[in-house]
Amino acid sequence: MPQATYHFPKGFLWGTATASHQVEGGNTNNNWWKWEQDGHTDGTSGLAADWWGGRWREDFDRAAETGQNAHRFSVEWSRIQPTPDTWDEEAIEKYRAMLRGLKERNMTALVSLHHFSDPLWVSERGGWENEDIVPFFDKYVRKIVDALKEYVSLWCTINEPNVYVMSGYVAGAFPPGKKDFKLSMRVLGNMVRGHVAAYRAIHELQPEARVGYALHYRPMVPRTNWSPLDRLMRNIRYNGLNMGFPSAISTGVMKTPLGNQNIPEAKGTQDYFGLNYYSVDTVWFDITKPDELFSNSGYPKDADMSANKFIANIPEGIFTSIKWAERLYPHTPIIITENGVEDSDDHMRPRYMVQHLHQIWRAVNFNWPVKGYFHWSLVDNFEWERGWTQRFGLWGLDLDTQKRIRRPSVDLYAEICKENGISSEMVQKYCPEVFDKIFPS
Ligand code: BGC
Repeated sequence: MPQATYHFPKGFLWGTATASHQVEGGNTNNNWWKWEQDGHTDGTSGLAADWWGGRWREDFDRAAETGQNAHRFSVEWSRIQPTPDTWDEEAIEKYRAMLRGLKERNMTALVSLHHFSDPLWVSERGGWENEDIVPFFDKYVRKIVDALKEYVSLWCTINEPNVYVMSGYVAGAFPPGKKDFKLSMRVLGNMVRGHVAAYRAIHELQPEARVGYALHYRPMVPRTNWSPLDRLMRNIRYNGLNMGFPSAISTGVMKTPLGNQNIPEAKGTQDYFGLNYYSVDTVWFDITKPDELFSNSGYPKDADMSANKFIANIPEGIFTSIKWAERLYPHTPIIITENGVEDSDDHMRPRYMVQHLHQIWRAVNFNWPVKGYFHWSLVDNFEWERGWTQRFGLWGLDLDTQKRIRRPSVDLYAEICKENGISSEMVQKYCPEVFDKIFPS
């Protein structure tokens, strides 16, 4: 058997990603808490992983002890600014303590300023539908960045604005639960403006900062290549989900299936691109789906599927995604800000992780500037409308006892982080079923 290692560049960031509402617990002052109380989710976030109660310490220990040198987490707007005219200095101090905690563990922080949840007072004022959100967001960003900049230089303004609008304004699964494509594109435009305001504010306060946003990029293929209808539906869905925000950042024109919005000030407002990649969609024309513009999507019949069939393991898709980003944003550093799979018994995660990292390694060897990888997630957390039915953590979580369960992937990822690469021994040990794919003889 060959002994070989695929090495990553020196200084590569190895971490995991989390988000405030999903791990903190007790976030009662935001739109998600209300959405949960109104019965729209499979269970409620409750105490989550109890980070607000202090359990971030033990989880950061776990991350550091297993070789991770970075962590991405988000700060919760509704805690920092509970009403339009008040700041909660104690909450801000807690975030400073978390950041000191990362520093003490020699871990680089990547902080997201918005990850799906909005303060209730923001939602009551129309949320991101209302252009007033831009000065609101700007004010909050200035306050928190000024307070935390001593410990952070890598910022993510908004996580997955495309998922926020598609889930909240088209599918209706996220608050506010609307189904209005036209409105979703207005919301997206305001998110672009909010991002631009944040980008400029952060650079004013911290010239050396590196600021980006994180996109959920979803490669898509038509189910039948020769079918013009499948191809048309694929293009509409692809452009609707993927292209609005990125086009605004690259050209100053936000392109949507409903027409363009000029936002010239958006052009060039990123220092790195944050890529969240999970899977590839197959799209087809479906006469029975008038609500979805006669289209439908799924995965190939023979796909390697996750526990709840939420994710198909399609590692080549991350290579395609990096290539797409490299072409759209030439010479811009790329950080994989999320990648992972729901898998409570860890039967699939080891191969999913190794196969995706192998594809990232291929991309790095084309000299495409991938600078880091943040696995989603460190510990099981509240999966939005899907509640606790999906388990994305390296560590499992027993909700009744708050006990962490060490999944085999913990040790695999630790070996990868410490080696700064993937070795044939690791693949043999943790996922021999894909050995021939990674190290073909
Ligand atoms: C989101 C995370 C989420 C993950 C897995 C991403 O779309 O940014 O918050 O938990 O997917 O579903």
